[in-house]
Amino acid sequence: MRNRPRRLRQNNIIRDLVRETSLSINDLIYPVFVCEGEKVKQEIESMPEIYRYSLDMLSSELDEVKKIGIKSILLFGIPNEKDEVGSGAYDENGIVQKAVRYIKQNYDFLVVTDVCLCEYTSHGHCGVVENGEVLNDETLPLLAKTALSHAQAGADIVAPSDMMDGRVLAIRECLDESGFKNTPIMAYSAKYCSAYYGPFRDAADSAPKFGDRKSYQMDSGNAREAVKEMALDIQEGADMIMVKPALAYLDIIKSARENFDIPVVAYNVSGEYAMVKAAAKMGWIDEMAVIKETLLSMKRAGADIIITYHAKEIARELLK
Ligand code: PBG
Ligand code: ZN
Repeated sequence: MRNRPRRLRQNNIIRDLVRETSLSINDLIYPVFVCEGEKVKQEIESMPEIYRYSLDMLSSELDEVKKIGIKSILLFGIPNEKDEVGSGAYDENGIVQKAVRYIKQNYDFLVVTDVCLCEYTSHGHCGVVENGEVLNDETLPLLAKTALSHAQAGADIVAPSDMMDGRVLAIRECLDESGFKNTPIMAYSAKYCSAYYGPFRDAADSAPKFGDRKSYQMDSGNAREAVKEMALDIQEGADMIMVKPALAYLDIIKSARENFDIPVVAYNVSGEYAMVKAAAKMGWIDEMAVIKETLLSMKRAGADIIITYHAKEIARELLK
């Protein structure tokens, strides 16, 4: 036989030599939840080993994250008070703004901030609501203010996750006018309306109080529309595009890679994490093997960067 693909699978060294895709600590972003108050380190029930931290408790977590070599984090804030217009999102003394200042003063992490209103609005929607409708254009200045306040606090990258039309341009213009022309925008471009966000909404207390997010997040049946969303965000000035969730949308990651030349980010979301944790707890899967295989599938599909709650576990594994 001339062709024997098994020749290149004979042993570990040759397999390592010809492997096309690999995981690296450099590609990982670890999400961190910060909340108001003191002495809070509260595990999220549906996300084992992931906690909400008050600022005074954050250092033990960040010291560990740093020690195992993770360099980038994505911050989410849980405020004490919410209102109709999400004021806490763009308050210079809001929880994320305080956390960014604290982290940038004490660590050298690259800090990415999630820019959205849903953690801060009483109705839990990602934009301003009037008569039960989530308004687009009225939301844009609030998102721009939020992104600017994060940049002013020291955020290295802002990541709008709201899915309002035109928000990347609104944020870009606002940052540029205010002296932050070098702050990159990581756009949640192809963000689907997904049941996989369930555990996150427990963590961030951000589930919509009425209706759903179908009028702004994407319909899961659509692939071509994702290309349009990504193209629009790039035209508006996005520096990186994101596909979210990741595992059920590997085809979208692949088309992001094939269609565009800027960095592609995959968000391995809370529900994907919860499923692995639950099956592992039952003893039904080899947890680390499943995590590696899953994250590798995202890289293989074309992701350059992976946001994942597994970042600490995988970083420890890569250090071995
Ligand atoms: C806020 C936001 C959400 C996630 C990231 N930013 C929730 C949502 O849109 O409902 C989900 C993250 C995850 O599930 O891990 N808009
Ligand atoms: Zn939101």
